[in-house]
Amino acid sequence: MRIGILGSGLMGGKLGTIFARAGHEVVFSYARSEEKLKRLAREAKGKARHGTPREAAQEADALLLAVHWSRMDDVLSQAGDLSGKVVLTCSLPMNDDDTGLVVAHTSSAAEELARMIPKARVVAAFNTVPSEVLFAVYEAKRKASRPSLVYCGDDRRAKEVAAGLIRDVGFDPVDAGPLRIARYTEPFTLLIARLAYEGDRGPELAYRFEWRGK
Ligand SMILES: NC(=O)c1ccc[n+]([C@@H]2O[C@H](COP(=O)([O-])OP(=O)(O)OC[C@H]3O[C@@H](n4cnc5c(N)ncnc54)[C@H](OP(=O)(O)O)[C@@H]3O)[C@@H](O)[C@H]2O)c1
Repeated sequence: MRIGILGSGLMGGKLGTIFARAGHEVVFSYARSEEKLKRLAREAKGKARHGTPREAAQEADALLLAVHWSRMDDVLSQAGDLSGKVVLTCSLPMNDDDTGLVVAHTSSAAEELARMIPKARVVAAFNTVPSEVLFAVYEAKRKASRPSLVYCGDDRRAKEVAAGLIRDVGFDPVDAGPLRIARYTEPFTLLIARLAYEGDRGPELAYRFEWRGK
């Protein structure tokens, strides 16, 4: 699959690298330095290259949107027309100093994004785990018990794409339902962040849901 990365920071850089190592064609885009994008593409070792957001979007079967909430308008304007595109977003609606959500309760970053690009197929995924755990999950993907990863969206085919990529990274995808459920998954990540960054066990934290009934 061809995957365009819009935002090649902690999340986009690592997920793009993992997608490339899992065999996908990846285009890294949207960082402040082209050198960084080149290095990511080189070090990913698979079929990875760098490009502009527009180039990343053009041929992509799926896009990963991984920018700070304040950069959303800018990256979308640089990406161009996303009609029909599968857009996975891990972006959270954080305020400028990352201390709180600027959208919550009655909407979510994922729903606001879907309003900004109404012809795209938006799925909220990878937004509930810290970037620090991603490589560890990928390296352990052959183990029997995988951590969960919730995702949600309104487009069935886009959700299938998301579930496949979630599996490729090494998580067990948990379909949380329609996109509006991002109203619950986004604040859930603040709990995960609290445990990852304020606890004494480090940020390599994932979670697992288990159904103990039938
Ligand atoms: N980090 C996490 O563990 C985590 C977990 C869950 C969800 N999230 C969410 O995922 C999203 C991405 O988070 P992140 O931690 O990956 O952020 P990040 O490391 O800051 O990455 C953002 C990317 O956007 C680029 N960027 C910022 N300003 C730019 C500009 N003016 N022009 C061009 N590129 C620009 C950055 O460039 P540079 O590479 O040059 O800095 C970077 O590549 C956020 O919405 C966050 O809330 C993060």
